[in-house]
Parts: sequence; structure tokens; C-alpha cells
Amino acid sequence: YHVTWDATSAEKSGYEHFMMKEMFEEPKVIKDTLSPRIVDEGITLDNVNITAKDLENIDKIYIVACGTAYHAGVVGKYIIEKLARIPVEIDIASEFRYRDPLISDRNLVIIISQSGETLDTLVALKESKKRGAKTLSIVNVVGSSISRESDYVLYTWAGPEIAVASTKAYNTQLAALYLVAFNFAYKKGYIEDSAYKNYISQLKELPSKVEEVLKNKEVIQKFASKHYNAKSIFFIGRGLDYALSMEGSLKLKEISYIHSEAYAGGELKHGTIALIEKGTLVVCPVTQDDLIDKMVSNIREVKARGAVVMAITQEKNASIDKVADVVITIPDIDSLLAPVAAVTPLQLFAYYMAIEKGCDVDKPRNLAKSVTVE
Ligand code: G6P
Repeated sequence: YHVTWDATSAEKSGYEHFMMKEMFEEPKVIKDTLSPRIVDEGITLDNVNITAKDLENIDKIYIVACGTAYHAGVVGKYIIEKLARIPVEIDIASEFRYRDPLISDRNLVIIISQSGETLDTLVALKESKKRGAKTLSIVNVVGSSISRESDYVLYTWAGPEIAVASTKAYNTQLAALYLVAFNFAYKKGYIEDSAYKNYISQLKELPSKVEEVLKNKEVIQKFASKHYNAKSIFFIGRGLDYALSMEGSLKLKEISYIHSEAYAGGELKHGTIALIEKGTLVVCPVTQDDLIDKMVSNIREVKARGAVVMAITQEKNASIDKVADVVITIPDIDSLLAPVAAVTPLQLFAYYMAIEKGCDVDKPRNLAKSVTVE
């Protein structure tokens, strides 16, 4: 009898890589992030003491972050503006801190960071405080520098994330942002009781939706096994699907080293379309009901130039297979909440492309889990 595992593989609980283990933890950690804040059919934000009166005095929200956390912030901008009707600016921390930002005591600055230690993000936070803004951080690591410096903290309960490429932390950052968006919208009177309850019950269903998505992994694996030699891949989406496309593209380049770009569907004809030729791979999340027709036209445009299209959409839209080459379905889910479940196929896609290419998925070259230097 031989003990064939070492301590590290034991930590991976049977998964080959931390990244895969962490993707499989998504349903649990989304639940861990949501459920303590859903109390008596309402949303509480721990000790985040921002009242309806405080919200009246906030002219603008800034969301500041780096990398994957920044991409979660892009979703945050869309949903907070849509629901709470407060203007939101989204900024890359390393840009924000050096551009003499227009921050005052009439602003709330939301900082997003998995590690809570990213230097640019930490400095952006300090700069915001110095200029009088209130600061709310969405952080994963308890007691981290960013959590200690912020006025308010809303922890993402994703647990330790070991793989350099962030996966489960992103889903929980989104979960936290939905809590903020719904809570603010309700306090501002923009959503009625019935809609609020309805959204809350849909939030509760998110873990099981992601669980369904994970069951589909073989379809994505099969697609990756055919296309891992791609030199360049484009991600195209509209609205929240554009935000998702940015994260899908980052995940792919981080771990598979395949060049890729994310483009807003409407911008396609202002650039990317020039690069589409026979066999070019295009990944299209299509989860936004009011933008489906527009996206279908975009898919037709790239198909007409020879692209191979993988679309990701809700089961109810499966007929998109009439235009796309491969359709990855996610369970039916409200367009507003779709990113939480639709990011998982993109993460799986990046993972399988990297595996097919023989890359070290957990420790990609040149990258660090947390960037604490300039
Ligand atoms: C590094 C990591 C990324 C992460 C980014 C921001 O670049 O490799 O995965 O998204 O830092 O990190 P943070 O800890 O602030 O979320």
C-alpha cells in the first residue's frame, strides 16, 4: 500500500488543479456571501451603515479596482446605475490614483479586492479618504490592509483562493455588488416590495444555477480540445455581456497565453471586424434579453467573414444555435443576474484551453496572485 498523494494534492481535494477546485466551490461561496445578508426577506449589509439620507447626499459612486476585481466593478457600474439610479464611474486603480480624481465628501468610493493588499488599490482608497469620500470595500481577506483602512467592509466569503487566476472570488464580488445595488435601490425607493422580494428569491437560486453550469463542463472541454491552437480569440458582448467578455478575455490570456480582446458588440465594426477571417474564434455571451437581436446580428456579421462562434446563453435562447457554431447553455436566469452564472463557462473555457496547451494553470508565467509593489 502506497500513499500516492502529497500535502498539496490533498489540499486540492482530489482536483487536479486549484483553479478547478475553486470553480467547483463557486455554488457554496456564492451562498456563503449571500445568505448571511438575506434576513427576513430583506437585504442587510453587515455594518455598512449607509442610510437613505446618506444616499441622498451621494452624487456619484466611484468603483476602483484592478484585474478581475475591476471587471466585477464594471458589472457593478451597470447594476447600481440601473437599479439605484446613482451615477457610477468605474476606474482602474493605477489610473485613478494618478489622475487627480474629482472626489469629495459627496462621493462614495467602492473598492474591490480579493487579497485586500493590491498596492494601487490601497493607495486609491487612501487618496479617496483624504479627499473626504466615504469608502466601502468589498474584500475577501479578513483583516487585510484594505479592509482595515475602509470606513465600511463587506466581505466576500470566497475562502482562500490559491490559483493565480481568480475565479470564485469574482462570482462572490458580483454577489456582494448585487446586494449593494438592491439594498441601495430599495432604500432610494426605486424598487417596490414585490420586485425586491422577487429579486431576493432569485439571488437565493444563484448557487444552484452555477451548479448546473458546472455540470456542462465536458461540452466546453470538447470545444477547447478542437480549438486550442487558436492564435487570437475575440470576446464580444453587449451590456452586462460586455463586462463579462472582458473577464472571459482576461482569464483566457492569463492562463493559456492566447492573445484575446473583448469588444462591445456595437464597436465591432469600428475595429475588430477587420481582424475576423476564416476560422477566427469568437466567443459571445448572449444573456441580455433586450439585446439578443443586436447580438444575433453581430454573430451573423462575424460568421459572414468566416468566424467560428461559441455562444453562451440561457436555455430558453438555445435556438441561437441557428447562427452560432456551438451553444453553451446556462439555466434560465434573469438577464440582470446572468453574469454570476455566465462567467463560469468562460472560466472553464480558459481552463481547458490552457490544459490542452500544457500550461501551468495554477501558476501562469509572469503573474502574481497579489501585486503589492508598483
Ligand atoms: C493580480 C491577480 C489578479 C487579480 C488582481 C487584483 O493581477 O493576478 O487575479 O484580479 O491582481 O487583485 P486583488 O487581490 O486586488 O483583487
